[in-house]
Amino acid sequence: MKITIIGAGNVGSLTAMRIAQDGLGDVFLIDVVKGLAHGKVLDLEDARPILKYNYNINGSDDIAQIKGSDIIVITAGLARKPGMSREELLSKNAQILKGICLNIKELAKKAIVIVVTNPLDIMTFFCLKITGFAPAKLFGMGISLDTARFINLISEELNLPAADIDALVIGAHGENMLPLPGFSKVKGVALDEFISDDKIKSLVSRTISRGAEIVANLGTGSAFFAPSAAIEAIVKAIVKDEKRTVGLCSYLNGQYGIKDTCIGVPCRLGKEGIEQVIELDLAPDEKAKLVKSAMLVAGATAQLFA
Ligand code: LAC
Repeated sequence: MKITIIGAGNVGSLTAMRIAQDGLGDVFLIDVVKGLAHGKVLDLEDARPILKYNYNINGSDDIAQIKGSDIIVITAGLARKPGMSREELLSKNAQILKGICLNIKELAKKAIVIVVTNPLDIMTFFCLKITGFAPAKLFGMGISLDTARFINLISEELNLPAADIDALVIGAHGENMLPLPGFSKVKGVALDEFISDDKIKSLVSRTISRGAEIVANLGTGSAFFAPSAAIEAIVKAIVKDEKRTVGLCSYLNGQYGIKDTCIGVPCRLGKEGIEQVIELDLAPDEKAKLVKSAMLVAGATAQLFA
């Protein structure tokens, strides 16, 4: 199994490390910056004797190395600076991703592609249009990270293990994301049995602004530990054909009343990619918010082609 990660920044190189250490396949790390991917790979190779594990990892600045990949993760692009929204990255990252997608279309037709570059939902829809790939085979990582953040904050608030908490976030990976307290449970018991409505509201808003909080603290760059863990879990679900339900940015064509755009929803994931988009029974206001954020994604993507 050839798993290629495009972009050797913090998210890309940590993802490469996690996938290699988990033994999910042969890892290729690619970055246009000369020497960057190769240097990181040399370093990752040096860890093998210490870890006592001979994973196979390669680095290159040549995009042609994507040839024959089974899975491609796109992390390339600029990251947010403090005070920037994910949307401000739009035109620069679209340019970068266009070149990458044209190469994928030519050299790795059979790959399952996971888009990570921000603004996530717009970039996912954009990559789908450029490659012409089937929606089951090209989707974005975003709300599985937001879901992890929501669960983490609930677990800290309740002082309970994260593994006991089941929560959901849907929508765009941005200010319009929708953490869903009504679908969130602690060992099957509704969240509002444990926490007041005000506290729940505060956890929801802290989840939405968690990425920006990290950017503000770091001063340069954005989050990478949890994003790389979320990507690794998605790759694992594909490689091991787990058929787990994961929050992904998926193309919708009728589900949730949304047509011809990409947005974050729960999806069943296996070796063929997205096997099913799960339709939640949303309250009318939740559905209206989801539809609105999907329309914003469609509008922004249309502008890129104008
Ligand atoms: C975040 C960025 C990576 O949510 O989108 O941290």
